[in-house]
Amino acid sequence: MQSYVQIENAGMVFNTKKGKFTALTGIDLHVDQGEFIALIGHSGCGKSTLLNLVAGLLDATDGVLLLANKEIKGPGPERGVVFQNHSLLPWLSAFENVYLAVEKVFGRTESRKQLKARTTAALELVGLTHAAGKLPGEISGGMKQRVGIARALAMEPKVLLMDEPFGALDALTRAHLQDELMKIVAATKSTVIMVTHDVDEAVLLSDRIVMMTNGPAATIGEILAVDLPRPRERLQLAHDPHYHDLRSKVLEFLYSRQMRPKEAA
Ligand SMILES: Nc1ncnc2c1ncn2[C@@H]1O[C@H](COP(=O)(O)OP(=O)(O)OP(=O)(O)O)[C@@H](O)[C@H]1O
Ligand SMILES: [Mg+2]
Repeated sequence: MQSYVQIENAGMVFNTKKGKFTALTGIDLHVDQGEFIALIGHSGCGKSTLLNLVAGLLDATDGVLLLANKEIKGPGPERGVVFQNHSLLPWLSAFENVYLAVEKVFGRTESRKQLKARTTAALELVGLTHAAGKLPGEISGGMKQRVGIARALAMEPKVLLMDEPFGALDALTRAHLQDELMKIVAATKSTVIMVTHDVDEAVLLSDRIVMMTNGPAATIGEILAVDLPRPRERLQLAHDPHYHDLRSKVLEFLYSRQMRPKEAA
């Protein structure tokens, strides 16, 4: 069977004021339908850039990216994106931000009532029913992030691209949304690529963890298969030695590539 998302020797060179900057090089990754990929690596290595290539928001300067055997050219409704920086329209309420996306995807086939029901359900899922009428400027960073998650989930995309979606949330909200996401993905069989800095989150959620080397010219360093059976229960996993083995492997990778102070400067 062909992979659903195929990234073949992809590279990204940015033109900057100081000249060309190679962010990514030689990225090869095949993702199957329904697979959950966590993308992990140090800050600035190119995780958002790679996600943006799959989202079609950036064009690779090298190689090719395919979705269901078709070259990715620009964004599409089958790919829902949760951005690292929320990216909500500031003049629209939380409800309207989600509704706009829902309308884009389902507007031709569904009534206003149905579209509203989808929007309401998505906001409820992320615990924001009470804030539906508020503008992005009137809610906290974590709430904005949840609106972004609601917006992406409400589109029922075939591919969910998430850039540190739970980064700004408190531990309880984060755990709740991780559990909800696992349920949704199990039910919808969505394919997910999620950027995270959180090693536990990566092991809990994903089928494979793609670990990236540091930039410039970052590439995939190692890929770790997370062969823990599903459904996964966080409390059970806490006592599972295999879970701890996997966790250690990711930590070892990250520590072995820790930036020395001189490089980081
Ligand atoms: N539009 C751009 N023009 C020039 N350079 C860019 C551009 N976008 C990203 N870069 C550079 O590419 C590299 C990768 O950036 P990217 O945002 O993908 O990193 P990241 O892994 O998502 O980091 P973080 O974990 O901090 O979000 C960085 O060095 C960044 O400065
Ligand atoms: Mg990023």
